[in-house]
Amino acid sequence: MTQLECVILIGLQASGKTSFYRERFASTHEHISKDSFPTARNRATRQAALIDAALARGRPVVLDNTNPTPADRVGPIRLAHTRGARVVAYYFDSTRQASLARNRRRQGKARVPDVAILTTASRLVPPARAEGFDEIFRVRLTDEGTFAVSPCAETVGE
Ligand SMILES: Nc1ncnc2c1ncn2[C@@H]1O[C@H](COP(=O)(O)OP(=O)(O)O)[C@@H](O)[C@H]1O
Ligand SMILES: [Mg+2]
Repeated sequence: MTQLECVILIGLQASGKTSFYRERFASTHEHISKDSFPTARNRATRQAALIDAALARGRPVVLDNTNPTPADRVGPIRLAHTRGARVVAYYFDSTRQASLARNRRRQGKARVPDVAILTTASRLVPPARAEGFDEIFRVRLTDEGTFAVSPCAETVGE
């Protein structure tokens, strides 16, 4: 049985988050993303309701947004712990140059304006255990197109 957990992906646009979800979690975890309701107000509230409903049904979840700041993460972390789930961060360690380049190779709606990536990069705070994460991993995309995942003892980045 998959352990009840809330996985929070953290990283720039085009850092590989959704691809990682598909490869690692699609068969076991529900996918939750604010992209599912782009125009709605109170997106954080709607997202929280989806997280809560899934965990209440015993379904592990993956939160697939940029989730750049502790303020973006504190609500889901508290909610998951209230539901008895462990909370795991995956930090996508991508430079802004690499994300800009991958974004330029995307087509149509999948491509975001460069300024969106630069804005997220200026706000991004690597996850720390003090936020309440039970475990933190760093993810790097390799030149071979695979994901290199390594555990982090305390915090990542800087
Ligand atoms: N392991 C990988 N190595 C290199 N490029 C990748 C890898 N995984 C995904 N990509 C490419 O990177 C781009 C962004 O991936 P995506 O998963 O959509 O990122 P995000 O969800 O963080 O915006 C896509 O164009 C995808 O083809
Ligand atoms: Mg994505």
